[in-house]
Amino acid sequence: MERPFFMRELIFATNNDHKLLEIKQAVDTRFRVAGLKEKGIREEIPEDHFTLEENAFQKAAYVYEKYGISCFSDDTGLEIDALNGEPGVFSARYSRIGTPTYPDMEVSKGNIRKVLEKLEGAETRNARFRTVIALILEGSRHAFEGVVEGVISLDVRGEEGFGYDPIFIPEGGLKTFAEMDLAEKNRISHRARAIRKLTDFLNALDDSSLQVK
Ligand code: IMP
Repeated sequence: MERPFFMRELIFATNNDHKLLEIKQAVDTRFRVAGLKEKGIREEIPEDHFTLEENAFQKAAYVYEKYGISCFSDDTGLEIDALNGEPGVFSARYSRIGTPTYPDMEVSKGNIRKVLEKLEGAETRNARFRTVIALILEGSRHAFEGVVEGVISLDVRGEEGFGYDPIFIPEGGLKTFAEMDLAEKNRISHRARAIRKLTDFLNALDDSSLQVK
């Protein structure tokens, strides 16, 4: 007998349209993924922990508990070995932490300047991007991690992408992320790797393991 078709709603706790589109294209048709804006959720969602995983779960749990809809959330950090893993969870606002280093500069440019200055004379420039996706699916918690290893370049190169892309050279190549087009970056990026794990998990779920919504 053919199983009835039920579509499950999943909220992706993000306001980033690009991330949302990436996910919508990858998840199978049993899931309808909506971003915060589509659900009319406009409040600031707290994100004040000290690990990527805790932050990601904090955001997903906030939405799940308040709105009762299964939810996932992502958090990403750049971890630089010579800086003891900094900027890590502070990646978004690194140059604004403590005494702001470049208060007049656009924040991601200031972040890059701060990293390059702190790495002057460093013995290693090894670093990695790490993304953690936290999923709360009908109350049960699942985490998916994507990592890309690389090095921090000596100078700023490339125009594509965002954030630290102009100074991150993924392992095995010479180009920074900002010197790659989006398709090339997405083949190897931390976020793409985490998303693949999430979508493999969702797409492999048996209908009977999900409650009917
Ligand atoms: P989020 O968790 O995706 O908001 O990322 C936090 C911060 O990490 C961003 O504000 C960026 O500074 C940095 N970041 C995250 N993903 C990337 C990326 O793919 N390239 C460069 N920087 C990134």
